[in-house]
Amino acid sequence: MSMLKDIQKVFFSKEELEAIARRLGSQISRDYENRNLLIVSVLKGSVIFMADLMRNITIPCKIDFITASSYHAGTESSGNVSVTDDLSVKDVHGYDILIVEDILDTGRTLQKLSDIFARKGANSVTICTLLDKPERRDKSVKIKPTYIGATVENEFVVGYGLDYDQKYRNLPFIGILKPEVYDNTNAQEETH
Ligand code: XMP
Ligand code: MG
Repeated sequence: MSMLKDIQKVFFSKEELEAIARRLGSQISRDYENRNLLIVSVLKGSVIFMADLMRNITIPCKIDFITASSYHAGTESSGNVSVTDDLSVKDVHGYDILIVEDILDTGRTLQKLSDIFARKGANSVTICTLLDKPERRDKSVKIKPTYIGATVENEFVVGYGLDYDQKYRNLPFIGILKPEVYDNTNAQEETH
């Protein structure tokens, strides 16, 4: 059965998401001219955005992937963030790292990743997030995204890489689910 029946409302259409990738891609291409750009996609949520964004970046760059996990209770992330699959680049010295994320919520995940890359000696670390939920930011979080696709209210969104219970990532748009889709959520280890 189609996933479309579970969707309550579409927030960002395929065309709007393509326009975001174009806008941010050209901004990044200008800002990183003559730098040593390494784009790091945070798995799994950012893969579709990453694929669209990198095709709109016109300067030479390298790409890499990292997986961060935190202990989740349903749709809430906790503070315990750990790297479960590290970069394939072992020495980040000299790289200007651009972290690409699907959504910045409490900010704990990207605070942790930014700290790790800075401590390992990256030349610079900046953040490009498709969506930002500024209302949700944790007080302890210091990082600020340089590139933001769009700001969203405090609602749980799915599609274009974003999941609920690992599903709906393959929707070409971003939207919210009907309330009846959420069953009783148990505490679970979740991969972003
Ligand atoms: P923090 O809180 O560390 O977490 O900034 C960011 C991660 O939380 C997940 N997240 C969402 N995933 N729809 C999703 O599918 C949402 O509305 C949402 N809000 C937060 C996501 O995995 C992100 O990487
Ligand atoms: Mg997720």
